[in-house]
Amino acid sequence: NSRQPIVAIDGPAGAGKSTVARQVAAALGLVYLDTGAMYRALTWLVLDSGIDINDLPAIAQLASSCQIQLASSTDLENPVRVWINDREVTQHIRSLEVTAHVSKVASQSAVRQELLRQQQRWGQKGGLVAEGRDIGTHVFPNAELKIFLTASVRERARRRQQDFEHQGQVTLTLEQLEKSIAERDFLDSTRELAPLQKAADAMEICTDGLSIAEVTAKIISLYHDLGY
Ligand code: CDP
Ligand code: CDP
Repeated sequence: NSRQPIVAIDGPAGAGKSTVARQVAAALGLVYLDTGAMYRALTWLVLDSGIDINDLPAIAQLASSCQIQLASSTDLENPVRVWINDREVTQHIRSLEVTAHVSKVASQSAVRQELLRQQQRWGQKGGLVAEGRDIGTHVFPNAELKIFLTASVRERARRRQQDFEHQGQVTLTLEQLEKSIAERDFLDSTRELAPLQKAADAMEICTDGLSIAEVTAKIISLYHDLGY
């Protein structure tokens, strides 16, 4: 079997998935796949097209014909670049508007079907660190290593606030951020299709009080424990 291992990292918003997954991928020489960026790109397209967020057939239609490209540089200073239908949306997918609507779009069956297909294509040869909500449970249920990252809502809101401050963006209050994060947690974990859930065979790491380097080192050590 020449397939390279797959590391699946799931967890709620702000648990540190993107940051840690990218560092793990860079350290192990694996490809990094940000599946949230794909749901965000499609949500951007829905909003940009002027489609009503409740017009589910129109959203399904858009999903079934969308082409998403991702370029993850190993340079951690640069964002993952994202294109949908050949339009670059890197700078748009983290907006408050996309964030507010993404969980709704991601709950639709046609959307999940199409993005699942595109994500699994990335994993055909393995050699991937994939990060999202349903990687260990649905996208790559046979992943060699599954990690479930968590942290308290307060801690995750604080991290998001720091992100905004570092980017020189207007930040929401801690209370607003907690509310937005808790809402998305609720929608993502109670939806019918592929909800946010720890896979039975995932290792859970609570990142409260842990640095990025500590979490990264822990995952790399678990990976080496597997004999790779
Ligand atoms: O980075 P952050 O945690 O804020 O979110 P993200 O990973 O960019 O994901 C944005 C949204 O996409 C989530 O809140 C989910 O609704 C959806 N998503 C999903 O349903 N399944 C995935 N595998 C990844 C993201
Ligand atoms: O992808 P996800 O939404 O799970 O989280 P992220 O965007 O990777 O991380 C959110 C923020 O928390 C980033 O600014 C990280 O640098 C920070 N972070 C942290 O302070 N401590 C950790 N153990 C992990 C992430």
